[in-house]
Amino acid sequence: NKRIKIKALLQGEVTGTTQTLMGWVRTKRSNKNVTFIALNDGSCIQNYQIVADPQTISEELLKQVSTGACILVTGSVVESQGSGQATELHAESLQVLGQADPEKFPLQPKKHSLEFLREIAHLRMRTNTFGAVFRVRHALAYAVHKYFNDKGFFYIHTPIITASDAEGAGETFKVTTLDLKNPPLTEEGHINYKEDFFERETNLTVSGQLEGELAALALSEIYTFGPTFRAENSNTTRHLAEFWMIEPEMAFYDAEDNADLAEDFLKYVIAYALEHCADDLAFLDQRAAEEEKTKKAEQRSELGLLDRLRMVVEHRFERLTYTEAIEILKQSKPNKKKKFQYLVEDWGVDLQSEHERYLVEKHFQKPVILTDYPKEIKAFYMRQNEDGKTVAAMDILFPGIGEIVGGSQREERLDKLTQRMEEMHIPTEEMWWYLDTRRFGSTPHAGFGLGFERLVLFVTGMSNIRDVIAFPRTPGNAEF
Ligand code: 4AD
Ligand code: MG
Repeated sequence: NKRIKIKALLQGEVTGTTQTLMGWVRTKRSNKNVTFIALNDGSCIQNYQIVADPQTISEELLKQVSTGACILVTGSVVESQGSGQATELHAESLQVLGQADPEKFPLQPKKHSLEFLREIAHLRMRTNTFGAVFRVRHALAYAVHKYFNDKGFFYIHTPIITASDAEGAGETFKVTTLDLKNPPLTEEGHINYKEDFFERETNLTVSGQLEGELAALALSEIYTFGPTFRAENSNTTRHLAEFWMIEPEMAFYDAEDNADLAEDFLKYVIAYALEHCADDLAFLDQRAAEEEKTKKAEQRSELGLLDRLRMVVEHRFERLTYTEAIEILKQSKPNKKKKFQYLVEDWGVDLQSEHERYLVEKHFQKPVILTDYPKEIKAFYMRQNEDGKTVAAMDILFPGIGEIVGGSQREERLDKLTQRMEEMHIPTEEMWWYLDTRRFGSTPHAGFGLGFERLVLFVTGMSNIRDVIAFPRTPGNAEF
């Protein structure tokens, strides 16, 4: 007998047919005459009700049907008497594929804290919350590919092991096959990387952008979507040491074209999730609303999850320069009593997340695109503006998240780029291949990077980035 998934069973016209379900038991309750089993197979948020009659299914077998056990059940689909669901399955035969000892199975049918579930990340996908999160994550990933494919962008796979630090922030994880306890040394006593696997120092990539630029200057419009790694202090609710990034890169785009694309893209993927993940988002909306109730009044968000998603899709993002934002922040009082912990007295300082959140959540109350940052706080590759002080950078800030996208128009002029790299002590000889694109057929181009987990965080309404990636990598956490 072929298995049917619960999602298909709920959508199809199957009343009166015989069907086989396989899945994991969420709950079981019995009265004198029958046993009800709520089964979930991960295909959707809904559990499906199985009705088992002890005359057909032995008591012995039903004893093994406990929360967490995996079962196969065949029976007829009949109209349900109870409320909630249109049909139910009347079991004709049942097989326990894998038992789950009720004394030891950690996921009993009750509310578990997200902190506890993080410690059992190998099992947490079996909960409603995480099932919903990972189905939404999948839909968003699919929407990303669909968006770019429909626009004629090409998906480029950039390397994970590289010899460069694209952001120049020195936050890379080293990759080596050398025995670092007893490494080969040069005559000067330094580690001799000539003897390493790649015959040079290498690290995990922090961004696929530089390789993406090479591709855009050949194929016009490309994007990457892959894992990136940063050895920064990621003990926050917004940082991971391993995260997925989407990086479109486009020849012949200027800063404004870049911002237009980023806004259109974000709206598209969020609208896609609203349309295709309605049940999961309705569940997550409720979950988020319950979490809000546990917060202090002043920290509560006025909008619900679904309202926030619609707000992003329906409103034009506010666009302003860094300089204009600093003026707003200088004049603002974040709330009656408190001041900002970090004051923004001086033009040139980097914005702290409290400033970013003030701008989106209090001042504009919608997503904000901040442009033209001081060159001192941005990466070497950004195009220098005429004022000599700022670069054509763009950060997109989202409510509840802060920075979700970082991007820029790139410096396409060889002399300006080389000069900036020297000022910032970026080795120009080692980056000869990057500079070659400016030597041969250079042209204005631009791109941005979307942190995929920050997007999933926003769309699911979860509050910790560790809860939107299956196996988070953070300081001290890499067990499974
Ligand atoms: O602003 P970032 O560092 O920009 C770049 O890497 C550029 N090369 C992108 C480009 O122009 N092609 O990172 C881009 C985005 C951030 O806006 C944020 O959403 C996310 O990546 N991000 C992180 N997400 C989770 N954990 C971290 N540690 C992250 N660091 C950045
Ligand atoms: Mg950034």
